[in-house]
Amino acid sequence: MLAQRMAVATDDITTLPVDAIVNAANETLLGGGGVDGAIHRAAGPELLAECRTLGGCPTGEAKITAGYRLPARYVIHTVGPVWSGGGAGEPALLARCYRRVFALAVANDISTLAFPAISCGVYGYPLGSAARIAVAETRIVLTAQSSIEQVLFVCFDPAVRSAYEEALAP
Ligand code: APR
Repeated sequence: MLAQRMAVATDDITTLPVDAIVNAANETLLGGGGVDGAIHRAAGPELLAECRTLGGCPTGEAKITAGYRLPARYVIHTVGPVWSGGGAGEPALLARCYRRVFALAVANDISTLAFPAISCGVYGYPLGSAARIAVAETRIVLTAQSSIEQVLFVCFDPAVRSAYEEALAP
């Protein structure tokens, strides 16, 4: 059942003992504020050291690193689009982030992963449409890939949680 393999969690993503947590990064992959800052703080300096070897990451792409001091084994860094009104290909780029993260998860035998609301903070993406894209792309992957057992949508505030609960409603 698809529904049982997706869940909403109100939590700090850095505390979750899943195979991989997803980072809402920027194209430098050298850290920042928001969830990016929290993940780097919790993972420790080795994460930044590995990120320095990756040569950045274009918007809509994803790269994987170890999790170091995090309970999660991996961090999958993806760069969401900055919202600029919706006419600059933002929806397609955000959908691509989810697809590229799942492609790395399958390639690395990751079966449980947790996403923050990519682009919904500093990058200003409207919560409702971002949550709908996240859930739609996840449903497609869960239908095709039985290896992905559990996807958590981690919400750091009530507005994000209600957007995901609405997007997940049957
Ligand atoms: N756990 C889970 N979610 C979190 C956490 C956390 N510890 N901290 C923040 N969030 C949530 C935010 O509340 C928001 O809903 O993650 C979502 C994504 O917000 P941002 O972290 O601002 O990410 P984004 O909007 O994609 O902007 C990325 O911000 O931090 C910089 O380096 C990053 O330049 C990049 C930009």
